[in-house]
Amino acid sequence: MKHYIKEIEKNILFYETARKQLETHINTINNEFEVLEDYNPINHIKTRVKTIDSIIGKLKRKNLAITKENTEKLTDIVGARIIVDFLENVYEIADKIRNNNFSIIEERDYIKNPKSSGYRGYHIIVSIPVSIGGVLKNIKCEIQIRTSAMDFWATNEHKLNYKSKNDKSIHKEKWIDAARKVWDLDTTMNELYLEEKHQKGNYVNDNLKIEMSVINSLDKIEKLKKLGENYGW
Ligand code: GTP
Ligand code: MG
Repeated sequence: MKHYIKEIEKNILFYETARKQLETHINTINNEFEVLEDYNPINHIKTRVKTIDSIIGKLKRKNLAITKENTEKLTDIVGARIIVDFLENVYEIADKIRNNNFSIIEERDYIKNPKSSGYRGYHIIVSIPVSIGGVLKNIKCEIQIRTSAMDFWATNEHKLNYKSKNDKSIHKEKWIDAARKVWDLDTTMNELYLEEKHQKGNYVNDNLKIEMSVINSLDKIEKLKKLGENYGW
């Protein structure tokens, strides 16, 4: 075990570097929306590297031997979560990630095909090349995109149920029922979002469009300035 922990500790620098790169890429998408678009659908972003304890826990749950090889097969030691406002936004963000020079390994749409637990979310596994001390490793990272409502369900279910050693079947129906309610909220809110988006497009006549674009440009210059200040330009 000591030997295993040493090996994984050596890899942590690779994982941490991949996490930083992933975070930078996602922040760039966020800034792009802030500056170039009228609306930023991103509510918040989180990134993390799994702790060694949690890596061991996962291998055990999957009945895999605790070895370096099995650890390197895990695709979610580095993870990012992007929480968006509306259902439609999940796919807008997924498009941006696809156009971001990431190597895409796999995509799983647990929104169109929810898990039997009721879990919904859009997952993309990407591979990020990290070179340290002359060694190049391609680090797989899991990006989860969810609405605030899906995140509410998943974080609570994760705390109480997902990793629980107790019999999960007792409350299964209740969790599924809660997931159904969350889905109902998400679809209703998405309809409202789409209607608003559509109306905006219809009402804005040409003159207003020009005025709006001047106002937006001024606003964008301000935002660019602010971003510049953050980067110390
Ligand atoms: P894990 O061993 O949990 O990583 O599952 P997996 O490797 O088969 O991948 P999967 O795509 O099923 O799930 C990846 C991640 O999605 C998990 O680590 C969780 O963060 C999340 N997830 C998947 N299913 C559920 C669920 O039923 N409840 C909650 N709360 N989260 C889930
Ligand atoms: Mg996983």
